[in-house]
Amino acid sequence: MTNHKEPTDNEILDAIDNQPKISKITVLSSLLAISNKFHYIPKNAVEIVAKYTDKTINDVWGVASFYTNFRFTPPGDITLDICWGPTCHILGSQKILKDVHSFLGIEKEGETKDGKITLRYSTCLGACSQGPVFAIDHKLFGNASIGKIKEKISDI
Ligand code: FES
Repeated sequence: MTNHKEPTDNEILDAIDNQPKISKITVLSSLLAISNKFHYIPKNAVEIVAKYTDKTINDVWGVASFYTNFRFTPPGDITLDICWGPTCHILGSQKILKDVHSFLGIEKEGETKDGKITLRYSTCLGACSQGPVFAIDHKLFGNASIGKIKEKISDI
């Protein structure tokens, strides 16, 4: 299993307090600040955001569950993004994705059984001319192949 440690209430409050003050702190801005810092919304965060913004827990859940980009479980130690956008699709991303599923032992997006790797699909990683493209922890690589993906993961 991964060595994930849940953030403390104080760490979550710190994320809310230190978010960029564009206009006013809202439920959404607080959830974004927490998600940016921890890469997910920890269980204790919903209640903390509710208290901080003077809203109900239901209000906060309503916002958090509306946005599909929020996740409620910690990501793996390594995040692997595979682009399956139009250009990468033409350049062979479906085959790469199939090989990645087999390599990771999973059938769709999500975490490996040991929780170490998170697989995500992307509709465009913004480097189409180098397709097929993948990213590891947001670092982009072009000319993807299953061999190259395995190599980059084993380098970490
Ligand atoms: S479609 Fe894959 S990087 Fe743009």
